[in-house]
Amino acid sequence: MPQEIKAAEKLIVALDVKSLAEAKEMVGKLSPDVRIFKVGMGLFTLCGPDAVALVHDSGARVFLDLKFHDIPNTVAHAVRSAAKLGVFMMNIHALGGSEMMMRAVEAARESEKKPKLLGVTVLTSMDQSSIGEVGINMKIEDEVVALARLGKDSGLDGVVASPAETSLIRKNLGKDFIIVTPGIRPAGAEKNDQKRVMTPTDAVRAGADYIVVGRPVIETKDPLAAAKKIIKEMES
Ligand code: C5P
Repeated sequence: MPQEIKAAEKLIVALDVKSLAEAKEMVGKLSPDVRIFKVGMGLFTLCGPDAVALVHDSGARVFLDLKFHDIPNTVAHAVRSAAKLGVFMMNIHALGGSEMMMRAVEAARESEKKPKLLGVTVLTSMDQSSIGEVGINMKIEDEVVALARLGKDSGLDGVVASPAETSLIRKNLGKDFIIVTPGIRPAGAEKNDQKRVMTPTDAVRAGADYIVVGRPVIETKDPLAAAKKIIKEMES
């Protein structure tokens, strides 16, 4: 499926806003050109399922980015609950292990809407020294690939990966595995706090099926124009 995704459907806009009213305004500005919105833990903790519902009301889909990591039974319960909201994609931490991931996959597959389940490998905020602090002594790239492979073997549909890891994961895990890539900056855009960034086109070339973009769209004067520019860039 990955190579069939059209440019307009590859863009996921991160709804990193501070209230339900702001979320509604942003979705109103960007729909129907933007087809997928990411609801993260900030907005979800504040507004809960209402944040998901407002995106669905606009006709767009939701990537629920809550990164579940707990004992298998609890994660399976959380996945079941999120699946009931009808989200398109959601994620869990691959570091929770194969049993946790398998139980999550089972819960997603048993649900009516069958959300795509993605794994988070190593957080992009971590480097070699911070993974060492938590007892991981492998090279960070090897750890990312090992966790992505464990995720695939456990039945996950794909992973969330930084631009720097995208081509490595694609090379090692093959075509039939979704890669969602944040840390995207169109040429000339502010980097903000992202350290390693890639343009939308380069991320897609590196193997990303979907790109997540937040501030370069939502913090501009004309979010719709910014989103359209990114879609156009990926089409060319
Ligand atoms: O504003 P910006 O484009 O940097 O937003 C990127 C979004 O993707 C944010 O919601 C951020 O939390 C998320 N994200 C990320 N890096 C990851 C995983 C998620 O930037 N590795």
